Amino acid sequence: MSKGFSTACLHGYEDFTSNKAHVLPIFASSSFMFDDLDHGISIFTKKEPGHVYSRYNNPTIQTVADKIAQLESLGTGIESTAFLTSSGMSAIYIVMQSLLKPGDILLAQKKLYGGTTELFQKSLAPNGIQILSMDLSDTNAIEQSLKSNPGIKAIYLETPSNPTLDIVDIRAIAEIAQKYNVQTVVDNTFPTPYLQQPFLYGVDHIIHSTTKYLNGHGNSIAGAIVSKHTDWMQTTVWTQLKLIGATCNPFDAWLLYNGLKTLALRMDRHCTNAMAVAELLESHPEVAAVYYPGLKSNKGYDIATKQMTRGYGGMLSFELKGDLPAVKSFLKSIQLATQAPTLGDVDTLIMHPATSSHLNIVKEERIKEGVTDGLLRMSIGIEDTEDLLNDIQQALDKIRVIIPGSGNPS
Ligand SMILES: Cc1ncc(COP(=O)(O)O)c(C=O)c1O
Repeated sequence: MSKGFSTACLHGYEDFTSNKAHVLPIFASSSFMFDDLDHGISIFTKKEPGHVYSRYNNPTIQTVADKIAQLESLGTGIESTAFLTSSGMSAIYIVMQSLLKPGDILLAQKKLYGGTTELFQKSLAPNGIQILSMDLSDTNAIEQSLKSNPGIKAIYLETPSNPTLDIVDIRAIAEIAQKYNVQTVVDNTFPTPYLQQPFLYGVDHIIHSTTKYLNGHGNSIAGAIVSKHTDWMQTTVWTQLKLIGATCNPFDAWLLYNGLKTLALRMDRHCTNAMAVAELLESHPEVAAVYYPGLKSNKGYDIATKQMTRGYGGMLSFELKGDLPAVKSFLKSIQLATQAPTLGDVDTLIMHPATSSHLNIVKEERIKEGVTDGLLRMSIGIEDTEDLLNDIQQALDKIRVIIPGSGNPS
């Protein structure tokens, strides 16, 4: 058929699927073609595999989601399904919205990423879901709560927690939850499946902010929901995801896919460097406290050693004795840590929680959560260890010059 100019511009391209690209291609297509009416019906009704519309799913997105499910399940003998979402926050929202209905109670860890606590208070609570926050390191108290509140339908935890790196015992919590028929959700963003596989300890669902370590290069925002309840994922969760329209986009999924290739190498280096930095910080007179689960002095060390099988991660926080003036001095002197409100990138990042993630929290409240004016959170990168140590040492030493006597041992 001869074509006019506009028609020629619009129609026909080579089918590149036969070219067998070595690297996962980006399927930047909002929809997928049907051969005929019957083909369309059988794909729509899932009788035959295939894609329909990229808000529903897409070959690039699904490949990356499947990879994350594979990593969370690897060696556990537990099958899982994953979906990629537009952010870590939408992953948390969709999984909670799929698990809970108005009148249900969510038992949430007190110390969580600030955005998660805010999401529970400002999005779930107005939808009729009651939030009960407590210290999940007290397993007797958890059992008492489940006994006296049959309305509790899910427990939400994060370990290590952001920003104070608190550790809770995943297996102990999951065992109590199972006894009372309560679902468990773990945010596995900090450790990643390389260091910690919550399915091994009896957890039902895992969420990730893949924006962080799974991507590792700070160039995409996305999240993941991974669950061993595979039928529930394909029905309830997928329905929420496609109707709310919170699916990840193919480009961000593709960036994440590239980052995943080096996850193991990066995490090993993050762990080695973070341990060395934590030890340096612990020995310095300007530092009041160091929060890193790999330090034997850390109260979560024994549990972390049990459940973080390959290392303690790249995140740590520490408190400077000189409070805000010392924080300002340290931030002015440090050269290899960029001040940016994210974590898990290959380069070292630093953040002052009191004036960023916790800025809108009443001072007394945040101090109760361990977020003092002197607290700094570092995401330790994969730079040469010696360079990081030298830089941190010089920045700490300068505090004493700027604020004489600030670090007198106490
Ligand atoms: C532990 C944790 N979970 C979830 C999130 C939310 O992820 P996102 O920013 O990708 O929505 C964050 C963000 O910092 C986080 O630190």
